[in-house]
Amino acid sequence: MGLTDPPTRHHRLLAWVGEVAELTDPDQIVWCDGSPGEWERLTAELVAFGTLVPVPAKPDSFLARTDPNDVARVEERTFICSADPEDAGPTNNWTAPDYMRETMTGLYRGSMRGRTMYVVPFCMGSLDAEKPMFGVEITDSAYVAVSMHIMTRMGTSVLDAMGKNADFVKCLHSVGAPLAPGETDALWPCNETKYISHFPDDREIWSFGSGYGGNSLLGKKCYALRIGSTMGRDEGWLAEHMLILRLTSPEGKVYHVTGAFPSACGKTNLAMLEPTIPGWKVETLGDDIAWLRYGEDGRLWASNPEYGFFGVAPGTDYRTNPNAMRTIEKGHTLFTNVALTDDGDIWWEGMGESPEHLIDWKGRDWTPNSEEPSSHPNSRFCTPIKQCPVLAEQYDDPRGVPIDAILFGGRRATTIPLVTQARDWVHGVYMGATLSSETTAAATGKVGVVRRDPMAMLPFIGYNAADYFGHWIEMGKAATSEDLLPEVFYVNWFRRSEDGRFLWPGFGENSRVLKWVVERLEGRGEAVETPIGYCPTPESLDVEGLDMGESDLKAALQVDPEEWAEEIPLVESWFARFGDRLPTVLWSELDALKQRLDLP
Ligand code: PEP
Ligand code: MN
Ligand code: NA
Repeated sequence: MGLTDPPTRHHRLLAWVGEVAELTDPDQIVWCDGSPGEWERLTAELVAFGTLVPVPAKPDSFLARTDPNDVARVEERTFICSADPEDAGPTNNWTAPDYMRETMTGLYRGSMRGRTMYVVPFCMGSLDAEKPMFGVEITDSAYVAVSMHIMTRMGTSVLDAMGKNADFVKCLHSVGAPLAPGETDALWPCNETKYISHFPDDREIWSFGSGYGGNSLLGKKCYALRIGSTMGRDEGWLAEHMLILRLTSPEGKVYHVTGAFPSACGKTNLAMLEPTIPGWKVETLGDDIAWLRYGEDGRLWASNPEYGFFGVAPGTDYRTNPNAMRTIEKGHTLFTNVALTDDGDIWWEGMGESPEHLIDWKGRDWTPNSEEPSSHPNSRFCTPIKQCPVLAEQYDDPRGVPIDAILFGGRRATTIPLVTQARDWVHGVYMGATLSSETTAAATGKVGVVRRDPMAMLPFIGYNAADYFGHWIEMGKAATSEDLLPEVFYVNWFRRSEDGRFLWPGFGENSRVLKWVVERLEGRGEAVETPIGYCPTPESLDVEGLDMGESDLKAALQVDPEEWAEEIPLVESWFARFGDRLPTVLWSELDALKQRLDLP
């Protein structure tokens, strides 16, 4: 058993593994080494049991079908357990750390009975970083262990780099489904009771009851964003829900852009887009999370702490995201809750015309006449970043890349123009702080409701959101010169016409917006100064070869005073939630905006 002959002499790690084993009482302990052999063994075991179904049309690829009640992040069961409730702020669920530890200790007692406990040493970001960001996830889910193979740098190399004393984030995960002797396991064990708890003061994560994505792959949202944002607050950096891309112009000039968009709003598509305008090239560094730190040159640099993509499947195909398709085509990919074709391939809504027959995500026969979609709207592909054909070679550089522009974006049918440039850093922070979007299937709950989603981080800020805005302001002040800061832009690919059509074609055509962004960085792009910031004139946006009516273009770019008159009260009540804690410069931004809009 893994306790008598452990592959490490890290005393605090060993003590913690021992404690958890005593509490949860697993049948055996396995220290994950991250080897291809381990991947083969675990996937074979999962296939033999039936939790994974092979996808023969793609090499070394598998499909998991979850319990229908365990299909998305559970924001209402996500807790920030800071000592002081004020430190969790009004946007997080707070519970006292002692109370949460007591409650969850009760749930964890014996929760791994009949199961294997996997110890997964991992590192968020490059192992060559000055201070590698270690974590160890203890989990009783083999699905989680193999997913961590894809999403993180993990295994023996990490354990070796940790040595005997490195700090690491403790991540404890149990699906919460102990097995009695002789009891047959469920294909997707989980528990109706779910907790996704964070102890920011101790840099610890406790997750119980769910095996799904962001609830269970604890390096991702829980560590790299929630705990990461708290670390960033304390240490002077930013953990953000951002893609990172590298853009090369026809003249060969290179720019780096990050983009913050809520879940299921096209981050993966934008990160690896194929420009439709000649001569431009996009390469990918990350599609979901960016850590932003100042470099020695005084610029803000971004690095991706992840090692794979956990992308939303529906809507992804060769027309919308050819590079994601090429990435998964290479195999070694875990699919979750998608449909299976009769010839052993995967299928989901948005992949063109549907086959005549499928096995849907619940394992049932499906035909085009079936009432429900064949794939869950939040179904996913989990695939190694290294397989991406347009991966930028800097992806593994511990310094990351220097950022030229930050995009904030949401999914809004009205009000928000295609692109608006902020006047300065503080105005950019205001744009981020007031970002809003219609909810998607990426979290449980109602879809299509407009909510504020500051910096696309609403579900992921690990502390008081007002303090987080303040931290963004402080990061700007920390710049040696305002000129070195990235320019900030607010984009909306999702504005609709009165008859409900999308006004802007999106996907590869978004390269036209990136081109305008670059022209603005160069100080040449034309813009009109509107009350909300700088917007392109219809002529300044390159629409050559684009089949788009002039009136649609104007409507996509429009700043409509009536729509803004409806928007401002929503922003006011959003800001009011933070009381005195909201940085006063944000109130000043709002006041100035109201004045420019001629609003009382
Ligand atoms: C998830 O929900 O499991 C996840 C990884 O993130 P997102 O919702 O941002 O895609
Ligand atoms: Mn995300
Ligand atoms: Na989700």
